Amino acid sequence: MSEHDDDVLLSVEGVKVHFPIKRGVIFDKTIGYVYAVDGVDLKVRRGETYGLVGESGCGKSTLGRAILNLEPPTEGHVIFDGVDIASLKGEELRRKRQDLQMVFQDPLSSLDPRQSVESLLVEGMKAHGLAKDAKEARPRLRELLSAVGLPAQALNKYPHEFSGGQRQRIGIARALSVNPKFIVADEPVSALDVSVQAQVINLLGDLQEEFGLTYLVVAHDLAVVRHISDRIGVMYLGALAEEASAADLYRAPLHPYTKALLSAVPIPDPDVEDSREQILLTGDLPSPSNPPTGCRFHTRCPWKQDTRCDTERPQLRVVEIDGFPADHRVACHWAEQIYHGEIQPHEVDPIAIDPSSFDVVDDHGTMLAEPPGVDPASGDPGRGL
Ligand SMILES: Nc1ncnc2c1ncn2[C@@H]1O[C@H](COP(=O)(O)OP(=O)(O)OP(=O)(O)O)[C@@H](O)[C@H]1O
Ligand code: SF4
Ligand SMILES: [Mg+2]
Repeated sequence: MSEHDDDVLLSVEGVKVHFPIKRGVIFDKTIGYVYAVDGVDLKVRRGETYGLVGESGCGKSTLGRAILNLEPPTEGHVIFDGVDIASLKGEELRRKRQDLQMVFQDPLSSLDPRQSVESLLVEGMKAHGLAKDAKEARPRLRELLSAVGLPAQALNKYPHEFSGGQRQRIGIARALSVNPKFIVADEPVSALDVSVQAQVINLLGDLQEEFGLTYLVVAHDLAVVRHISDRIGVMYLGALAEEASAADLYRAPLHPYTKALLSAVPIPDPDVEDSREQILLTGDLPSPSNPPTGCRFHTRCPWKQDTRCDTERPQLRVVEIDGFPADHRVACHWAEQIYHGEIQPHEVDPIAIDPSSFDVVDDHGTMLAEPPGVDPASGDPGRGL
């Protein structure tokens, strides 16, 4: 995409979100940072769906929140429709929020259980001056419910009276209620049964067409983003490893991390499945509070070279390979050589990770003992992809 593309609705430029790690009750000393988002550049064109995928803890939600300025970026710019969101304050920012809405992963916890659907939906409309009260809003509310496939009677019910899929429809209706231009959908179907995931994904597609929406859809599941995304960004430890149209990314992944992720996705065709190169990633996902030097993927990369990989951080750049479009970007020093087979994959020596480097803090600055993405109950090291 050219820099002067008028079609760009959202431009994320050099965005970083670093959370301070504090220790000490009295002095509240900053002893380090969680580099949750560490230099992301991406553009989303009007009317398109940009899919953002990556392992648990790689910074997807933080980036989504930074775009909406729910988490102000430590550095960088978020230009939405020509306006730098981070420069807006108070009333101006509040008004801009009408254009940018979010659909959350867990519809139950994101909907106030004490509010009826009507009250949930009217809230934003009142805040943005689209309706004085519920009575005035009612015709629009019926339209919204019908658009998301719920009956009008749903208005008088409460979130717990619905199934997970229906609740997510309410979450989507709430985002739509203020006529946004852009929606960040953060793992919109990951809390839903597989049987209803496709319905909700299809609904998002239908609504996009009907209301001319632009989406950033966050997912840890490549299968989810594949079918709805025009373009996909693959994120690893706070930065994009690769970005391409959905078709190109699946046809010819270039970054070793993308290759590994895709090699883990089953393909229904047994011939393709048998001939596919399987790449198993060894080694743990490093902590974003102590990211590896150079290429962040070098501790797990089967193609890692003795030069550059562990000293020089690769930029996201257009690849120089015949037949590859200019919008296929990759952050790997050796992408061309890997593609042409001039560099072969090798065994990766497991690199021990110092468990103390996993220290992270919660929203209140309290140290957490578990590594990021770990389910404390099961000890599962993150669901990965
Ligand atoms: N408020 C915060 N304070 C400190 N660290 C945070 C905060 N929010 C997120 N983090 C850390 O930032 C990193 C990125 O988190 P984020 O939630 O953006 O990841 P994610 O890719 O959305 O993961 P998941 O797939 O599990 O939702 C994680 O290590 C997380 O622990
Ligand atoms: S720069 Fe080096 S370590 Fe990073 S992905 Fe490329 S080959 Fe692997
Ligand atoms: Mg998340």
